[in-house]
Amino acid sequence: KAKAGLKDFLHINDFDKDTILKILDRAKEVKELIKSGERTYLPFKGKTMAMIFAKPSMRTRVSFETGFYLLGGHALYLGPDDIQMGKREETRDVARVLSRYNDIIMARVFAHQDILDLAKYATVPVINGLTDYNHPCQIMADALTIIEHVGQLEGTKVVYVGDGNNIVHSWLLLASIIPFHFVCACPTGFEPDARTTKRAIKAGVGKIEITNDPKEAVKGADVVYSDVWASMGQKEEAEYRRKVFQGFQVDEELMKLAGPKAYFMHCLPAERGVEVTDGVMEAPNSIVFPQAENRMHAQNAIMLHALGL
Ligand code: CP
Ligand code: NVA
Repeated sequence: KAKAGLKDFLHINDFDKDTILKILDRAKEVKELIKSGERTYLPFKGKTMAMIFAKPSMRTRVSFETGFYLLGGHALYLGPDDIQMGKREETRDVARVLSRYNDIIMARVFAHQDILDLAKYATVPVINGLTDYNHPCQIMADALTIIEHVGQLEGTKVVYVGDGNNIVHSWLLLASIIPFHFVCACPTGFEPDARTTKRAIKAGVGKIEITNDPKEAVKGADVVYSDVWASMGQKEEAEYRRKVFQGFQVDEELMKLAGPKAYFMHCLPAERGVEVTDGVMEAPNSIVFPQAENRMHAQNAIMLHALGL
């Protein structure tokens, strides 16, 4: 099934560097327009988006729904109890039915295969709003935030401290098409997916390091990045993980080792006092809220690209 002129947004490295940078430029443009109060740019007018959520969300839900509305469209929220994809109905049936009502589908799911199946059977673009494997919209917002604060992404050093999870996979995929230095400092046994790491290194674009030493890793960082130690679907492991992840909290001392130019970023939600201290979250170099805001702007540009607009 060909989606003429339409594109799914499932993994960062489904696109080349130029396309990703073009989407980010578009995000900046549309962000300025929206922030200026301009409300006459309505490219999504007459369009609807189905948003499937198998997991909870604040940012993804609100930023997609608000962004789509601000550009003229209408978004429908389908929560975990609504369509129960894969349980009440097979994913391939959901994909084909929603495609007949809606112009675009955004989904947050557990198994990555679910987003692949949705994309395979949908005849409209499918946007990945987080799976157990990756979170490409988040990393697009992060890239936009780094470009705004540091000046550029190329050549910067981003040090992620914590669990080698879905966020890390998206960072690795970004570093496989854009040259920057990405370091993941995680406890032994919590490294990112080995195949993804290997492929990203083999791409030979960004400099990629996986280490168990956060103190050494953060030296000279432009950005220190943190995420929860137990992701959605792993919450029953939270207590055990708190023990294993001792030494991987981003605190004032670690930020001092990173140096004065280092920004702090976190995809949120954050557990203050666990993976990050309250002091680091509230420090002047913490850019977690501009980062959260950029979810909306990055995604608007992603949706424009997906719809060929
Ligand atoms: N960062 C992020 O995706 O937040 P939500 O889980 O609240 O959508
Ligand atoms: N790694 C986290 C990200 C939340 C936005 C999770 O999957 O729960």
